[in-house]
Amino acid sequence: MDMVSAINDRSSTRCFTDAAVPREVIERLLESACKAPSASNQQPWNFIVVGGHHRDRLVQALMSAQQSRGKHYDPSRGKTMPAAYVERSKKLIKSLRSHLEAINVPAVSFLEEGSCSLYGAPVLILVAMEKSHMPFQLIDIGCAVENVCLAAHAGGLGTCIIGMILMFGDVIREQLALPEDLEAVVGVALGYPDRTSAINQFRAPKEEPVSLTRWIGFD
Ligand SMILES: Cc1cc2nc3c(=O)[nH]c(=O)nc-3n(C[C@H](O)[C@H](O)[C@H](O)COP(=O)(O)O)c2cc1C
Repeated sequence: MDMVSAINDRSSTRCFTDAAVPREVIERLLESACKAPSASNQQPWNFIVVGGHHRDRLVQALMSAQQSRGKHYDPSRGKTMPAAYVERSKKLIKSLRSHLEAINVPAVSFLEEGSCSLYGAPVLILVAMEKSHMPFQLIDIGCAVENVCLAAHAGGLGTCIIGMILMFGDVIREQLALPEDLEAVVGVALGYPDRTSAINQFRAPKEEPVSLTRWIGFD
């Protein structure tokens, strides 16, 4: 698969098979992650790869934290952000919901419970950064995470970046014995996509560059 096809074809996987991902495969993905650019080449990423019964225990703890919290995800709750961004989140949720309804998958709590259960993925790659790093270095983490997702896609695996579990940072810290000087930034659910599942046919609506770009010095 060429690079542009990998970029254009990748989409979040939200239904995984339970097939195990061999450690060597994950190691290769992490090698791709580590090739990412980073500010001053500081490479601020730390990867915590969670599988087996540790993954199951973490999922149980996250699911029970989510059930106690009992709220549904609302991208605009408590935030003052430009309406366009809230609208894009709502558009995503609306189109995902109608996709799920059309294939008879209960849509209520799909994102919340799906995220906490890693959509059934056998592996979580948690990416953490030293608390002492600057906020702009989150960009470095983003670059590394995208490398993982693209390399996984090119290799026939599926990923879903999972930020929602960060609502339960204390659960993650306790379950994974995360040192105090590290902050969990984001997780990547990793596994083999269930290609028989219509859930994975969902494609998130994307804006066209024309609506996001201002050209200066071009005709
Ligand atoms: C920082 C970040 C956090 C995300 N967190 C979640 C999450 O918690 N649960 C989820 O289902 N998807 C999550 N996603 C996936 C986005 O919903 C997804 O990338 C977006 O809808 C575009 O769809 P695509 O990945 O299929 O192109 C996250 C993506 C990013 C970049």
